[in-house]
Amino acid sequence: MDPASSTLGSFPMIEDLESIFVTEQEIRERIEILGREITNTYTDADELTVIAIINGALLFTADLVRHIDMPVRIDCMRVSSYRNDVNPVQEPEIIDMLRLDLEGAHVLIIDDIMDTGHTSRRVIEEIKKLKPASVRFGVLLEKEGRREVKVKPDFVGFQIPDEFVVGYGLDFAERYRQLPCIGVLKPELQNPPTFV
Ligand code: IMP
Ligand code: MG
Repeated sequence: MDPASSTLGSFPMIEDLESIFVTEQEIRERIEILGREITNTYTDADELTVIAIINGALLFTADLVRHIDMPVRIDCMRVSSYRNDVNPVQEPEIIDMLRLDLEGAHVLIIDDIMDTGHTSRRVIEEIKKLKPASVRFGVLLEKEGRREVKVKPDFVGFQIPDEFVVGYGLDFAERYRQLPCIGVLKPELQNPPTFV
């Protein structure tokens, strides 16, 4: 399939990408496998509690939970770790906390990407305070070379190079999240004044 075409319709914003790292089809196929891996990991559990770190994990979580073959509860956490540019703030802030009771629950936290690892470390720390039975972390993308803290995801979709990517939930200034594939923006689009 042409990486720029989608079964979901046409996405003119794909033309803003300089290159595509992961196609829609690759994402779909990988998510099916991840869903099976996750299901097999929790064969002894009655239920799984999936926590999506929004906004980035919105699309990935929505597709992934439909491939997890067991009862699932879903909640969201909002964490700010990026400004409107490509530089992370060092200490991520939890802006919106969960509503669910996690005591004794098997928790799977889902994020779009693990970069420096600060966001994951901070979220895991908060979740552990709520006395869950287990905590695991799943990400669609991992930039392995960028890790600044000791944290390793339990489930990874794809390893990607150290470049700022958008699409399939990942944004640049809240744009491009709806793209069905993942790629790098053209350099001239990485800081247009209209986005500030
Ligand atoms: P970390 O705390 O450095 O691991 O960064 C995690 C968060 O930074 C993710 O949840 C994303 O929101 C954001 N992020 C990291 N790399 C990218 C990228 O290449 N594109 C878009 N967002 C990114
Ligand atoms: Mg994010």
